[in-house]
Amino acid sequence: MLLSAEEISARLETLAGEIDAAYAGRELRAIAILKGSVFFLTDLLKRVKTPVTVDFLQVRSYAGTESSGNIQLIHDLSMDIQGRDVLLFEDVVDTGLTLRRILDLLSSRRPRSLRIAALLKKKLPENRDIACDFLGFEIGTEYVVGYGLDLDERYRNLPYVAVWKPEPK
Ligand code: PRP
Repeated sequence: MLLSAEEISARLETLAGEIDAAYAGRELRAIAILKGSVFFLTDLLKRVKTPVTVDFLQVRSYAGTESSGNIQLIHDLSMDIQGRDVLLFEDVVDTGLTLRRILDLLSSRRPRSLRIAALLKKKLPENRDIACDFLGFEIGTEYVVGYGLDLDERYRNLPYVAVWKPEPK
């Protein structure tokens, strides 16, 4: 186990306070990057007091434990974001490819602001340019599962984050 349910929960309380302070007097458009960030978004938004609307966007980058480097848009937003204060929810920033692609796409739709909330960010030179406005935890480069993060669609429902290790042969 890398992060317990209790550690995650305590960190979300702090992040919710930071979000409320940053968006005082505004309405937030929260966007979950499917599927992994749904667990993070729902648990965090339940603690946020700022008025919020929610939308979903789906891209795909991973096959097994490897980032394919090829980001496909599978499901677009259902609502216009022009003039909105948009907060993107990401479960993990790994190479940063997914967020770079999504930031490009969404900034062209002229939101009032566009910020990032990420549960996890891996310590990697490749993602140094991705500034997370609200970050849960910085972690190492291991492959992690749980709390929304999968390995071939499994383990998302673990209430904690764990490092995935292959079965010994
Ligand atoms: C994973 C993860 C992030 C992204 C991070 O998504 O949830 O969205 O990869 O990797 P990157 O920073 O190297 O781009 P995936 O495409 O596997 O979809 P999922 O959320 O449905 O698991």
